[in-house]
This record gives sequence, structure tokens and C-alpha cells, in this order.
Amino acid sequence: MRVLVTGGAGYIGAHTSRLLEARGDYVLVVDDLVTGSRDRIPGIPVVEGNLANGSALQLETLMHEHRIDAVIHFAGQKQVAESVVNPAWYYEQNVGSVAQVLLAMERAGVTKLVFSSSAAVYGDASGAISEAAQTSPINPYGATKLVGEQLITACAAAWPLRAASLRYFNVGGAGTPELGDTQALNLIPICFEQIAAGLAPIVFGDDYDTSDGTCVRDYVHVSDVADAHLAMLDALPEQPGNTVLNIGTGIGTTVRTMVEAILAVSGSDLAVEVAGRRIGDPAAVVGVVDGIQDLTGWRARYSVSDIVESAWRSRQYFDGLSVN
Ligand SMILES: NC(=O)c1ccc[n+]([C@@H]2O[C@H](COP(=O)([O-])OP(=O)(O)OC[C@H]3O[C@@H](n4cnc5c(N)ncnc54)[C@H](O)[C@@H]3O)[C@@H](O)[C@H]2O)c1
Repeated sequence: MRVLVTGGAGYIGAHTSRLLEARGDYVLVVDDLVTGSRDRIPGIPVVEGNLANGSALQLETLMHEHRIDAVIHFAGQKQVAESVVNPAWYYEQNVGSVAQVLLAMERAGVTKLVFSSSAAVYGDASGAISEAAQTSPINPYGATKLVGEQLITACAAAWPLRAASLRYFNVGGAGTPELGDTQALNLIPICFEQIAAGLAPIVFGDDYDTSDGTCVRDYVHVSDVADAHLAMLDALPEQPGNTVLNIGTGIGTTVRTMVEAILAVSGSDLAVEVAGRRIGDPAAVVGVVDGIQDLTGWRARYSVSDIVESAWRSRQYFDGLSVN
């Protein structure tokens, strides 16, 4: 297959681009390199540019020139707090780029699309969450992902678009150290930062109705997430439509378990510090992932230990670079 990967120089996009290339697919990356880096994907052609505004014509030309069969659209901004401060820019970047990609695909006659959505579309829903759960984002970031999905669904009703929107749960780890996420603002990197500063990692709330009182989340290894894109690309239904699927392990892990694993891997003798609950944190959020498993046979292979250990190796790799 000949695949255009937007955001292919980013964290998940680079893992996926490398997997595509390794199995013999042709890969062309379009990326503005704002958070991405060419170093992650040596040997893969990169066209540098921002997709959000008015680039459909250039994209259409690229699709023709490179005889593209399918698009995986990763390009987007992902920081929840930033989206609250700067919502219009988030809509411009995240929804604008979906619109431009769809315009170019329609004009170029490219009909296969896999889109990076997020479990953020479920808002503060709690429990085991299937794709049928109500979507009710609680921040502009989640809203942009939901609008992106809706736009894709509308296009699939208008022209023969065969699409899938993948709602990732908590992505972590690194396939190889240099592919780690250097931009993430979530549990694992935040704990590493705290520990490096000699401060105890903080768990918010230990009085939830869960096995150890701390929140439960579904952590999925980035290599599994990347793999799911290849599986989905191969299994897109023949009929036009937008197949919405959760990407997670279906297994919940408590935040305390994660933090203790992070402390152990970093060789720290600091203890977990417990602070009060954060407003809006649901007790448990775990993906129901039967949908992707039934459709593609894909299932997550890596454990929470794999996620934490590979994230640690990646952190050491980047720390080494900054020292040298
Ligand atoms: N990492 C996660 O935990 C997670 C969870 C759910 C959803 N997602 C979504 O998955 C996608 C990839 O996330 P990631 O973690 O790899 O992030 P990332 O920031 O590492 O990668 C995004 C890539 O897209 C590029 N990019 C961003 N906006 C662009 C634009 N307008 N035009 C061209 N290039 C642009 C960046 O330079 C970067 O290379 C994003 O859409 C994100 O919202 C990520």
C-alpha cells in the first residue's frame, strides 16, 4: 500500500510509519515538525508544512504524485490544558487539518482513512467504556476530536470514503528509546520529572471505590497503538462509513500501581505522596476493546511493565543526549 501519514514525525506517527515501512508499504509523511522530528523516521520522505489552513491543493497534488492509496491522519495538537487556554487555535489546527485532508482525498480520489481520535471524546464517563457510550467531551481538545469524527462521518455519507476513527486510551512507552514522547504531560513523564527533582510523585485521591483507592486507567503501549493502525488499514470495511473503535488493553491499572512501577524502574526510594482528589477525575476509565479485536484480530501485546520500562529507557536516552 502507498500511505500518506500526517504527523508521521510525531510520537505515535513515527512508530506507525516505521512499522508500515518495515512491512514493505510506501510511506510519505506530511508534518509541520512543530512537535515532530525527522530524526525519528530516517529514510522516510517528509514534506514539511502545516495542514490546517489552505493546504488541500498541495496535498491533492502530493497524493497524485505519490500515487497514495490511503491516509493515516495523526497530525494534531494534544495538550488538554493548552486547548482550554487557546480553544480557537485548537479547533483551527485539529479540525482544520481534518477538513483539509478530506478535501484533498475527495479531489484526489483517495478513499481510505484512519484518524487519531481520543478517549477524551467520552468526557468524564466512568467505568468500562464501549464505543456506544455517550460522547460528551469536557474540554476543547476532546471536542475537536469529536468534531473531526463527525466531519469524517459526514464525508463518508457524501462520497465513497472508507474510514476508521480510533479512540486511544492512555498511550505510553516507546518502541525504541529514540521514539519516546518528549512532549507528553501525563502520568509517566510527570512522575519521572518529580523523581529526578528529588520530589515524591503525587497520586490525587486514594479514597475512590477501586482496589487500592486510587483511580484506574487503561494504559496501552505505543507499539500496540501503531500496530492497530496497520490492522485497521487492512480491515477497513468495503462499504463507505466511519468505523469508530476504542484502542486500549481493556485492562485497568490503578495509578498507585503505575507510580510504584515508575519508582521501582527508576531505582528511587521515594514514597508515593497522596494529595486530594482533582475535580473531574473519574474513578475508573477502561476501554472496551472487543470492537477492534473482532474486526481485525488485533489485541494489545504489551503489559504495563513494558510501558514503564520502555518509557524509562527512552528517558535515559534523551537525558544522555542533553548531557552530551
Ligand atoms: N499520545 C496520546 O496519548 C494520544 C491520545 C489520544 C489521541 N492522540 C492523538 O494522536 C495524534 C498523534 O499524537 P502524538 O502523541 O503522536 O503527538 P505528537 O505531538 O508527538 O505528534 C503530532 C505530530 O503532528 C504534527 N502536527 C501537529 N499539527 C500539525 C499540523 N497542523 N500540520 C502538520 N503537522 C502537524 C507534529 O509536528 C507532530 O509530528 C494526535 O492527533 C493526538 O491528538 C494522542
